[in-house]
Amino acid sequence: MKSLLVTGGAGFIGANFVRLVRATRPDVRVRVLDKLTYAGNAESLAGLDGVELVVGDIADADLVDRLAGESDAIVHFAAESHNDNSLRAPEAFVTTNVVGTFTLLEAVRRHGTRFHHVSTDEVFGDLPLSGGEKFTEQTAYAPSSPYSATKAGSDHLVRAWVRSFGVPATISNCSNNYGPYQHIEKFIPRQITNILTGRTPKLYGTGAQIRDWIHVDDHNRAVLDILERGVVGKTYNIGADQPEVTNKQVMEMICTLMGDGDEPVAYEHVADRPGHDQRYAMDASKLRRELGWAPRYTDLEEGLRATIEWYRTHREWWLASKEAVEEGYAARGQ
Ligand code: NAD
Ligand code: TYD
Repeated sequence: MKSLLVTGGAGFIGANFVRLVRATRPDVRVRVLDKLTYAGNAESLAGLDGVELVVGDIADADLVDRLAGESDAIVHFAAESHNDNSLRAPEAFVTTNVVGTFTLLEAVRRHGTRFHHVSTDEVFGDLPLSGGEKFTEQTAYAPSSPYSATKAGSDHLVRAWVRSFGVPATISNCSNNYGPYQHIEKFIPRQITNILTGRTPKLYGTGAQIRDWIHVDDHNRAVLDILERGVVGKTYNIGADQPEVTNKQVMEMICTLMGDGDEPVAYEHVADRPGHDQRYAMDASKLRRELGWAPRYTDLEEGLRATIEWYRTHREWWLASKEAVEEGYAARGQ
């Protein structure tokens, strides 16, 4: 693999992926295709040599066709990615997540480019709060929100293009990521930046919901493993298999880590998300067994401490958008 196209490479996970590739695969030429929506930030790629940013839309067939023809492989991160936004304004989710993925698949079909599709555990719907059941690669799809429904649609398109047209693609479904460069609309950076700007952290409902947190670097090492050594046509679940924590527990960890001595920061409960998925849990044993992958971040508190430090020392990256993000949430009672 000499030339790699990364869609959504100016977003949270994509930018961290580009940084990982630059650090570990110095001979690979990296191009990023990103529309720079509100969630994309060219600054997330600052200081990287040998990375070309093409500002454009994955639903632009002519552009995508040219770029696919000039690339050995594509890793597809670009998406509308926030559940709360999808409940307010679903149209962009259909256009980008479904039509955009279709556009990429058609280009890949013409050029035979290796394709890796990055997806989410949310395509499987949710699990009951109690009980140890986990999602496997065989779990039936049952998405709940416009976000997860459009990601499910894009996964189905990839599978169909593999089966019908022999497109050389793989898929990964990963659990909730955290780490540097995550947009401050998302749970963990929202609370960290709330505290850093003197606002009160906001927990939806009772905070009983459970997410299967994984550090973004662990996710991206798995994506690279699948791209380089995965079996074409296969799907891999990615999850760190850590002790389960509720949103309330994560909130309390952040409030303690950012508190003053023994005094944690106080937080408040706000309106719950409609249709809120209760619990996600991934069984990633296939990835561990077949590709020898294992997470390196196995202590959530340590990962959160490093993430807090990153937001504390990178105010210039997020501060300008903070007020508008919070105004949007306030309008919805959150
Ligand atoms: P993000 O919202 O931070 O970044 C998305 C990027 O895609 C942005 O840079 C944005 O500008 C770009 N983009 C959006 N629409 C585009 C379009 N039409 N054309 C070109 N670029 C466009 O998202 P993220 O959290 O980095 O997620 C990346 C991928 O990983 C998504 O496919 C998401 O579904 C998946 N995923 C995310 C998580 C998570 O916890 N964040 C977990 C599992 C899977
Ligand atoms: P989020 O980061 O939006 O990811 P996802 O919807 O993909 O799981 O939210 C993670 C969890 O945190 C989810 O259960 C909703 C909850 N949450 C809050 O309690 N407060 C908040 O301010 C946000 C943004 C989310």
